Amino acid sequence: MEKLNFNKKRVAVFISGKGTNFKSLYKFSKLKKSKYKITIVISNKKNTLGIAFAKNNRIKNFTLIDKINLFEKKSIKILKKYKIDILCLAGFMRILSVNFINKFKKPILNIHPSLLPKLKGLNTHERAIKRKHKFSGCTVHLVNARLDSGKKLGQVKVKITKNDNAKSLEKKILRQEHILYPNSLNNFIN
Ligand code: GAR
Repeated sequence: MEKLNFNKKRVAVFISGKGTNFKSLYKFSKLKKSKYKITIVISNKKNTLGIAFAKNNRIKNFTLIDKINLFEKKSIKILKKYKIDILCLAGFMRILSVNFINKFKKPILNIHPSLLPKLKGLNTHERAIKRKHKFSGCTVHLVNARLDSGKKLGQVKVKITKNDNAKSLEKKILRQEHILYPNSLNNFIN
């Protein structure tokens, strides 16, 4: 068992809020089929539910509430120290600089609440409802220098019904995110 664990990819997660995607990544990591383990989590906001979850589950955690330059400098150090193989952004609401991406050199994954390339950026659910889209969904993709534009690793479509509003759509999509993200990450690791 110990030996198997040793071969698993070391994943770091960046969060900014509730961290429900982080929790689902962590829960999946405990399954036998998981090819990764969650080594650390970093939040750029104070007192997040995600960090509370990390503390309760004894996951090494950091809260770095610095401006982006300093945040990147500190977090690169931590990622190197903990020999992280893959970084997962999970509701991380900052844009990482090209400098950071180049320095880290390892894959960075992100989950975005829309059917990319549609609806890049913020407030995706409000925009999907306002534009009367028939479908929305979520996408897991690699992070590159352009916002929400890296190679797609997985996507799930969700139907928008007449009764949906931004909140109900968010809920429906989040449920799918929790399945899509760990599975896309696991498939990405070969
Ligand atoms: C998720 O819906 C995620 O896709 C979105 O924020 C939410 C975070 O929820 N991410 C973005 O909008 C990134 N641009 P969580 O903190 O409960 O995982």
